[in-house]
Amino acid sequence: MTLTIAIDGPAAAGKGTLSRRIAEEYGFHHLDTGLTYRAAAKALLDTGLPFDDEAVAEKMAREVDLSGLDRSVLSAHQIGEAASKIAVMPAVRRALVEAQRAFSQKEPGTVLDGRDIGTVVCPDAAVKLYVTASPEVRAKRRFDEIIAGGGSADYDAIFEDVKKRDERDMGRADSPLRPAADAHLLDTSEMSIEAAFQAAKTLIDAALREK
Ligand code: DC
Repeated sequence: MTLTIAIDGPAAAGKGTLSRRIAEEYGFHHLDTGLTYRAAAKALLDTGLPFDDEAVAEKMAREVDLSGLDRSVLSAHQIGEAASKIAVMPAVRRALVEAQRAFSQKEPGTVLDGRDIGTVVCPDAAVKLYVTASPEVRAKRRFDEIIAGGGSADYDAIFEDVKKRDERDMGRADSPLRPAADAHLLDTSEMSIEAAFQAAKTLIDAALREK
């Protein structure tokens, strides 16, 4: 039987880095489910069709190829915004959740990160982590990332953006972002990625021993 680790939390909380390190540590397959929403959104943007047609958005979602997801192609701010808009559409979510569940069955194990993995996609995951950090810390991390990449950034604009994204992710009717009842909370506001990884590893090892 395969073993799934579900990692949820708001944008820029450090889920991506943490998930990749965990997948590497345990030799598991990793899926950043945010990329599936981004890929569908990019396909929709590329058609130039109106954004409010749920049937067209669903078609784009059904055509997403999970093996061809590349963050460097999908990282644009405009794609993130578009992704959070189509993520409120139930037909889009149904299509992507189906593909994500199929991925979660891969042997010997999987790490999925997103917003609704522990609550909706993989409610039976062996370990659930809810990774969070204050909006200020998350905005600062995103700011530092852009500067380190040689770009220019406006902290206040990023901070407003983080708060707006939280509202959209937590406020939607279908599968809002929230911790599963059995999730372990990991607040990384005052933790390095390395410390967060060690804390996650302790939780995962304990959960695996009980299996
Ligand atoms: O994590 P991200 O910024 O790449 O995600 C892009 C958008 O996709 C985000 O605003 C919310 C949505 N999303 C979702 O609704 N459910 C998921 N499991 C993952 C992402």
